[in-house]
Amino acid sequence: MVFYTNLKSMFVEILFIFLLLISFSICPQRALSNRFDPSPLSTNFLFGTASSAYQYEGAYLSDGKGLSDWDVVTHKTPDKIKDGTNGDIAVDQYHRYLEDIDLMEAMKVNSYRFSISWARVLPKGRFGEVNSGGISYYNRLIDALLLKGIEPFVTLSHFDLPQELGDRYEGWLSPESQEDFVYLADLCFKSFGDRVKYWATFNEPDYLITYGYRKGIAPPFRCSKPFGNCSEGDSEKEPYLAVHNIILSHAAAAYIYRTKYQAEQGGKIGIVLHFDWYEPISNSMADKLATERARSFTNNWLLDPIIFGEYPPVMQKILGDILPKFSNNNKEKLKSGLDFIGINHYASYYIKDCIYSKCEPGPGITRTEGLFQQSAEKDGVPIGKPTSIDWQYVYPQGMEKIVTYVKTRYNNTPMFITENGYGELDNPNNTEEQYLNDFDRKNYMAGHLLSLLEAIRKGADVRGYFAWSLLDNFEWLQGYTVRFGLHHVDYATLKRTPRLSANWYKEFIAKHKTEVFRQEK
Ligand SMILES: *[C@@H]1O[C@H](CO)[C@@H](O)[C@H](O)[C@H]1NC(C)=O
Ligand SMILES: *[C@@H]1O[C@H](CO)[C@@H](O)[C@H](O)[C@H]1NC(C)=O
Repeated sequence: MVFYTNLKSMFVEILFIFLLLISFSICPQRALSNRFDPSPLSTNFLFGTASSAYQYEGAYLSDGKGLSDWDVVTHKTPDKIKDGTNGDIAVDQYHRYLEDIDLMEAMKVNSYRFSISWARVLPKGRFGEVNSGGISYYNRLIDALLLKGIEPFVTLSHFDLPQELGDRYEGWLSPESQEDFVYLADLCFKSFGDRVKYWATFNEPDYLITYGYRKGIAPPFRCSKPFGNCSEGDSEKEPYLAVHNIILSHAAAAYIYRTKYQAEQGGKIGIVLHFDWYEPISNSMADKLATERARSFTNNWLLDPIIFGEYPPVMQKILGDILPKFSNNNKEKLKSGLDFIGINHYASYYIKDCIYSKCEPGPGITRTEGLFQQSAEKDGVPIGKPTSIDWQYVYPQGMEKIVTYVKTRYNNTPMFITENGYGELDNPNNTEEQYLNDFDRKNYMAGHLLSLLEAIRKGADVRGYFAWSLLDNFEWLQGYTVRFGLHHVDYATLKRTPRLSANWYKEFIAKHKTEVFRQEK
């Protein structure tokens, strides 16, 4: 009897494993689909792709556009860009936006994240006229998107700014820059806010400022030794001044939106930051504290003031007088100064403490940078699968972890994944088959999306996901040497071709739509 039961259960088990194997081999999507069934996403979840003006538009002097700092830098000092190129043409979205919207429609995305070229709408900032040619371009783009059911998700400032503001006060160093930003924001709310319901004030100012004012390798190229090689600047102080002005610029724009436009237009306003995931390199208390310090010196640096009205206490303690202060008046404007947090997530790193343990001295670990060391390896083992990009290792769990961190620290403020993507070094020897069959990008997206769904299932209020990027494009200091597109771009002809990842994304979106539909019936 006992023997019989065992035999029977053994048979049942073998049959079960056999069926499981068959289902995996015949129908891998099916087996995978059980893992996201039921979909935790709401019907209005935004699936989109992301872009930015300077990286995409081209048309750098068309229809009255003024010069941006990136126009000037790429022309005057092309050696600062890896391949000596610029965004004069980029992927020419200014002239090809209808074709690009067709590509979006083919993927069935319901949102597109793009940025306003500040110098296109205000060639001299607030010191000149509004350029009607620029306003008209964004009107055409927005209308064409809406016609296809694609929500515009607009970033007001994505790195490029009018050269006029660079000349007048080195970008964000002067408190006057706040007035300039509010002037831009007000113009955009007034001109486009009847149709645009998602506004991000800034893209990755944490990153921009570190590159522009500490390392001095991006406009306005300010730094001091030993942090970098610049003619002017102060790497220990200026990043904190510049970010202070950016925080206050954000707060002032959000205040205007809320008091003057939001009731009527009904949109949301937030900010987009660059969120790497940080993992303590050991279980020691020192490394755990260092990891929290790393969060403070990168993202909480901006989010704490915008949401709580104060810089993180640990920054105040370490930086002392270097950190500017908020007046009581400012603090009032700052409290709860956003409707959503935009998360650009690409990579994860280990963090090691440099207060109690020894670190290689020099830039990267200094007091004004937070006294921690970041690395992608622990005991010679990388945190995830290496890629052709030196800073990118594939660690999908980082997505769930960073979203959960932000959820916990900021009381589940609504979040959007405003960028997530996989870069590949361009190899001109690749055959068409090689550059279109981007299995690695597809796997990266699948892993990160599954990880995101897990965070959402556990209660994170995430309302959208934007893949970086719709197309290969001008990747700032890397020029055209790195490709992130779901569509390949032939830079000689500007022809766009969907990669495997574009088709995979389309299927992923379609599946979620059916599941959500099924659940709601
Ligand atoms: C620093 O910049 C100057 C001027 O551009 C250049 O001549 C020099 O070689 C640079 N030094 C280093 C260490 O990069
Ligand atoms: C492309 O091919 C050439 C000629 O075979 C070779 O010298 C070069 O290193 C290759 N480039 C890359 C990036 O693999």
